[in-house]
Order: sequence, then C-alpha cells, then structure tokens
Amino acid sequence: MKLEIAVLPGDGIGPEVTAESIKVLKAIALEFDHNFIFTHAPVGATAIDSHNDPLPEESLSLCRQTDAILFGAIGHPKYDNDPNAAVRPEQGLLKLRKELGLYANIRPVQAYDALLEQSPLKKERIAGTDISIFRELTGGIYFGEKHLSEDGQQASDLCAYSVEEIERITRKAFEAAQHRRKKVTLVDKANVLETSRLWRRVVKDIATDYPEVELDFLFVDNAAMQLILRPTQFDVVLTENLFGDVISDEASVIGGSIGLLASASVGDRHAMFEPIHGSFPEGAGKGIANPLASILSAAMLLEHFGLYSEAGMIKTAVDRSLELKITTPDLHPENTQITTSKVGDFIEDFISHPNDSNINFANVHLGQSTII
Ligand code: IPM
Ligand code: MG
Repeated sequence: MKLEIAVLPGDGIGPEVTAESIKVLKAIALEFDHNFIFTHAPVGATAIDSHNDPLPEESLSLCRQTDAILFGAIGHPKYDNDPNAAVRPEQGLLKLRKELGLYANIRPVQAYDALLEQSPLKKERIAGTDISIFRELTGGIYFGEKHLSEDGQQASDLCAYSVEEIERITRKAFEAAQHRRKKVTLVDKANVLETSRLWRRVVKDIATDYPEVELDFLFVDNAAMQLILRPTQFDVVLTENLFGDVISDEASVIGGSIGLLASASVGDRHAMFEPIHGSFPEGAGKGIANPLASILSAAMLLEHFGLYSEAGMIKTAVDRSLELKITTPDLHPENTQITTSKVGDFIEDFISHPNDSNINFANVHLGQSTII
C-alpha cells in the first residue's frame, strides 16, 4: 500500500518520539512491501518561532493532501504562564482538529501484564483493564464562544453541542463496541448540564440501532472514581470533549505511564495519530522520552488503513519490549542507559527479526548489538 504521511513533530519531546515511529513504520514498509512517504511540516511553539503561526498554512494544506498525519506533541512553558500571550502553540492543534473535522478521538487504555507493578494502583484492581475512550474532539467548551469583559473582571466559555455532532461520534463508539465487549458507557453530567441531557437523548436513540450493545450512563464525577476503583467494568467510554480530556489523563495511570497511551483522531475524510502525552519540555533532548505511545499511535495508523497484521506486529514488539524491560526510565528507573532511540531500535529490530529478540535483549544490555 502506498501512504502519504504528513509528519508534524511539534515541540519538546515530539520530534524525538516521532522519529522512532518513523523508524518503526519504515521497518514495517520494508517487511510488508509498502510504500510510506513522509513529509515533515512545522506546528506548535516551533512554528510560532519560525512562522509566527502555530499552524502555518503550508502545514495545514499538507495535512489536507496526505492520507494520514503523524503528530508529535505541542506546548512550551513560555506560553503556559502568560495569560496575555496572543498566540499559543495549542491553538495549532485545536485548529488542525477543527479544520480537518477530526471529531472522534479514540484513546485505548490497557493494563499491560508486564507493567502491573508499575502502576500506583493495586494490581488486582487494574489487571485485565481494556478500555477504549471515545472523546468528542471538535465541539463543546473547547470551541464555544469565549468572552472576557473589557474590565477583565469576568470571563465565560460556552459549551454547545448539536445533535449532529453527538450522533456521528456515537455511531463510531457503538461500531467499535460491536467488535469489542459490546458495552458503551456514556460519561456526562446530565444532572446539571443541558448539553449532557441532549447527549443522553441522542445516544439513547442511536443505541436502538445496536441492540446487541449494552448502554449505560455515569456522571463524570462518579466515572472519575469508578475508573480508579474498578476499571475493568468499562469497555467503550463515550464522552464529550472536556470530560474526555480529563478522564483520559486519569486513565493513563492504569497503564503505568502516560508514555504508553496512543490515540487516533478521526473524521470523515482525515485521520491523525498522536501520543496523548504532552511536549514534556524538561525531558526534551535528553533521550529519556518514552517513544511507545507514539509507536503505538503509528500502529493505530496502520489499523486505520486495514493493515492489521502490520499493526499487530508492532504491538507484539511493544509487548516484548515491556516483558524484557527494554524501556525508558519512566517505566524502569534503573534503565538509565536505555534511551528513546534504543527502545525504537529494539522495536525496529524485532520487526525485522521477530524470533531473535532474546538475543537482542542481551545485546542491548551489553552494548554489543549492531542496533546500538
Ligand atoms: C490533549 C491535550 C490537548 C487538549 C491540549 C494540548 C490542547 O491535552 O490532546 O488531550 O486539551 O485536547
Ligand atoms: Mg489532554
């Protein structure tokens, strides 16, 4: 298959982790005889520095023309604490989501057996967790009208949803549930918010088209608690933009590191794949960033195009790296020698020689491998 992929590495650790995904995708292309063409473009704080715009027109038009987008991370501390900043890196990401109509953000959360000890949560609670969060990504309070009074004493952000916006992501969530454990949990605040009541009405209606899928409802405050108390009760979690942002970071604790969480942002015409972690500026350039979230996002890219064996190969390689503890120090603090690119090398090498990984493990540790 020929795929044109726009690469937007962005800020902080974005470029480092994205480089590992490209390495892995190139290995897949070689192994499975595909033609993946990568074109880089600026976004975020980097693009503000070079173009005075967090999403330059050339980057947006590249994304419109390509089959898929591989995104790194966005954000820089110099903008975070400056409420007066006229442009912010995050605007680049939000504009990209909106302009490309990427309304469904899919965030898988899994408790890896090899990492049960790494989670701050009790392993008997999290073992077996396998959740797919469907976060609405182009509506709600993120995109509603914003207002700051002239005297600076009052501000508001409007949360608005239309039936159509709710319907399209709901269908995607139910379709995914049909291929999973056939359960959708709508997370909302219907006891308080009018938008949540609209969500309930629309989701209930659509559920009748999927009779084999069970639908239940949870208020977001309760859901935040249940996610930590009994995460195995969830299959597909469907929610609006802001709630999805919050609970997906919370859910990342289950997997042991936010450095493992991949995501796909999908619309009717375009699709973008990105790790859910941020730009981690303190970690940039040190080789300590965990590339697995980005690499798993690349696997989601392959799945999006029906390349399931290829995606499966990456996931097996990631499982193997976790079993063999070939990870960055966020997962195993003693691994001070295992850098971002060594983890990527291991995954790449596994794809080329799947039966050889024990040897590779020894070599990585002894520093003797050709892949070092
Ligand atoms: C995410 C991020 C973004 C969001 C930021 C960077 C704007 O936290 O993708 O979850 O809030 O959506
Ligand atoms: Mg977030």
